[in-house]
Amino acid sequence: MKLEGIQSHLLICNGKSCMRGGADHVTNAIRTCIEVEKLTSTVHTTRTLCNGMCKEAPVVIHYPSGQWFTRMTPETGKSLVHALAANEMYIPHLSHTYENDCFRPYHKPRYND
Ligand code: FES
Repeated sequence: MKLEGIQSHLLICNGKSCMRGGADHVTNAIRTCIEVEKLTSTVHTTRTLCNGMCKEAPVVIHYPSGQWFTRMTPETGKSLVHALAANEMYIPHLSHTYENDCFRPYHKPRYND
C-alpha cells in the first residue's frame, strides 16, 4: 500500500468483545463506504486487537485526530466515513479526544444549560 496521501487512519478494533458486538460488520461497512466514496487514496484502515475499552465495544479510533468512537454500528461507521470525507467532526459516538497532551473524555454540549 502507498502511505503517501493518506489523511485519515481508522483503527478498527477486532478484539473479542468488539467482535461479539459486531465489529466484523462495522469493519465491512466502513471499508465498503470508503470504496464507494472513492476515499481509498486518503483513508486507510487497520484491524487491531483489543484497545482496552471492551465495555464500550465496538471501538474505532481515528488518527491523526486521536478521536475514539465507541458503541459503533455499521450505520455509524458509514456516518464516520462521510464525516471524514466532509472534513467534519463526527460527534454522535465520540468517546475521547486528544487535547493538551492526553486523551480526555468527550462531553457533549448540553443545550438546555
Ligand atoms: S475488544 Fe475492542 S476494546 Fe477490547
